[in-house]
Amino acid sequence: MSDDFRELVTRGIPDHLPPMPPEAPGISHAPRRRQVLSGAQRELALTNALRYVPEGLHAELAPELARELATDGRIYMRRFRPHYPMHARPIDEYPARCQQAAAVMLMITNNLDPAVAQHPYELITYGGNGAVFQNWAQYLRTMQYLSRMTQEQTLVMYSGHPLGLFPSHPEAPRVVVTNGMVVPNYSSQDDYERMNALGVTSYGQMTAGSYMYIGPQGIVHGTAITLLNAGRRYLGCSDEGGGLAGKLLVTSGLGGMSGAQAKASVIAGCIGVVAEINPDAVKKRHEQGWVQEVERDLDRVLQRIERARREKQPLSLAYQGNVVHLWERLAREGLTVDMGSDQTSLHNPFAGGYYPAGLTLEQSNQMLSRDPDGFREQVHASLRRQVAAINALAGRGMAFWDYGNAFLLQASRAGAEVMRPDGGFRYPSYVEDIMGPMCFDHGFGPFRWVCTSCDPLDLETTDGIAAQVLEQLSSSSPPETRQQMLDNLRWIRAAGSHRMVVGSQARILYSDCEGRTRIALAFNQAIRDGRIHAPVVLGRDHHDVSGTDSPFRETADIRDGSMFCADMAVHNVIGDGFRGATWVSLHNGGGVGWGEVTNGGFGMVLDGSEAVDRRIQQMIHWDVNNGIARRSWAGNASARFTLERAMAAEPRLEATLPHAAGAELVRGALAGVYGGE
Ligand SMILES: NC(=O)c1ccc[n+]([C@@H]2O[C@H](COP(=O)([O-])OP(=O)(O)OC[C@H]3O[C@@H](n4cnc5c(N)ncnc54)[C@H](O)[C@@H]3O)[C@@H](O)[C@H]2O)c1
Repeated sequence: MSDDFRELVTRGIPDHLPPMPPEAPGISHAPRRRQVLSGAQRELALTNALRYVPEGLHAELAPELARELATDGRIYMRRFRPHYPMHARPIDEYPARCQQAAAVMLMITNNLDPAVAQHPYELITYGGNGAVFQNWAQYLRTMQYLSRMTQEQTLVMYSGHPLGLFPSHPEAPRVVVTNGMVVPNYSSQDDYERMNALGVTSYGQMTAGSYMYIGPQGIVHGTAITLLNAGRRYLGCSDEGGGLAGKLLVTSGLGGMSGAQAKASVIAGCIGVVAEINPDAVKKRHEQGWVQEVERDLDRVLQRIERARREKQPLSLAYQGNVVHLWERLAREGLTVDMGSDQTSLHNPFAGGYYPAGLTLEQSNQMLSRDPDGFREQVHASLRRQVAAINALAGRGMAFWDYGNAFLLQASRAGAEVMRPDGGFRYPSYVEDIMGPMCFDHGFGPFRWVCTSCDPLDLETTDGIAAQVLEQLSSSSPPETRQQMLDNLRWIRAAGSHRMVVGSQARILYSDCEGRTRIALAFNQAIRDGRIHAPVVLGRDHHDVSGTDSPFRETADIRDGSMFCADMAVHNVIGDGFRGATWVSLHNGGGVGWGEVTNGGFGMVLDGSEAVDRRIQQMIHWDVNNGIARRSWAGNASARFTLERAMAAEPRLEATLPHAAGAELVRGALAGVYGGE
């Protein structure tokens, strides 16, 4: 099989039509997309797809692809999905001329692994529409390019389309990826649907289109950290006082990222009740051990909550049904809910991201393409019901936050009661209160790595190394960051026992600039002296200090008016690109929706060389301090503290510091000119 795999990867797009690949049982498919193209545009879409295959195949293939367009609303070129099993393999099993290219192939195949990806046959990794490629021909051609690439070339990726290999040099990124980049005035949801159906753009989400998704583990940790810090901030929980024991979190979603909430609840020590309407998603997370128990009956859900509360036992419970029904029942019964959130895919509300109450899953999937206007109405009505129940529980003391899925944004557009009289949202986003001030302003963000040997023992070694570094750092860290250090130390010591690996041998933790740098250098040293047996890929979620400009999520706590500017994310990718990243990616529209965010990320292959030591030091320093400097300039006090420490440690860093003007002085000056308004 291995030789076959190598041969097929090297061959690329075949010059004959392969047989249709068989369908494995239990595969979840993307919903049919809305028919959005005019007649002329349909011709363009078909012509665009056919240009990937030799002319001799066009006559036979064209009717089949036309049927795909009519059925799926997209052309996935299903016939070209490879017959070999799709999963991350040890790095030396990939046909490649350079290790960096093989590492990228490993990450791509992991992002399309049916155990990892949400709708693998439609090349969707997570979030309903977070795509690695638009069609299977793009996959085949990209893998072929990577198998040929030398250290003197860079592969250019336009929204899944491999533009080609271009001459460069060994220090340059091997791959540069953009997803969904458009001229700003063409960034509406309708623009996206049209261009995606034409086969010229894609939605890369945060980590899908940059090949950096590592399954829901990637977000388990961030979610556990959020819950622990939410408990401290909203409920006054302390580690000494038993933490979150007996506290109840109610939320929704057991999908790609949202699936992490169940596992994170248990890790954080609370009772997590997660509603999920899709039985396939419930089954997958239950079988993987991410959710402990499943109930379909609301009476039993309530009884189980009471028991867990009495026993103060951590619990993850899936309610298989619509989250609106769960919220309404809890509100009616007058139960105490301590914390609430939502992680349906509301960044994509009308194309399968949110299933409205009153329709079954199947009815919704049919209606969203057959009667899009009617479906939109159903979504809006459902959101109004959901918010009414949440408001009732919040009125009795529940702390509710938006979990970065555009819940408040979409609920406001639906006319739900989520606005304050002053025009702001009545609930915070988790970044405003928790992630921003407690993590991002201090440079703490979602650092991750993948062991390319695919050997669990290598992962264990990296866990041990990371724990050692964090132990050293936590003994000398200032009080402002010690709690985060200790949370992460506790996390990494227990990470192996939580059995969180799905797909590649990957791990995540939150760390600051110094921690990320020292951990990466220690890994590189361990590769050099043979304690780790193959290269390690370093990366991060785009959801980080510097990577993402997103006014309803990552930059929700930027208050100088620049929350809608995207200079930081764009600079981040450019700066990473010339400081040593192996690949960089820049996306329109991850997390909260197309047009609502610009985000970027990187991958770096650690091969044990001294050159990589230099790359680590240069690139990570920029990758964190870019955002720290911007956050400090925006007036975030903790970011200023972090920046001043960074400047003291590295004299070549000279950042512009703000001189804060007093509010009284500003008001007085304006009143003197404009008069009192
Ligand atoms: N803040 C964060 O850290 C963070 C992290 C991850 C994801 N997100 C956001 O959260 C959202 C979810 O991400 P995902 O990758 O899990 O997406 P997903 O599409 O894989 O999962 C969402 C799940 O919600 C379920 N669902 C939809 N409507 C429902 C309803 N009314 N009742 C019950 N279940 C319903 C769907 O069946 C699906 O399984 C996205 O918008 C994403 O951008 C935020």
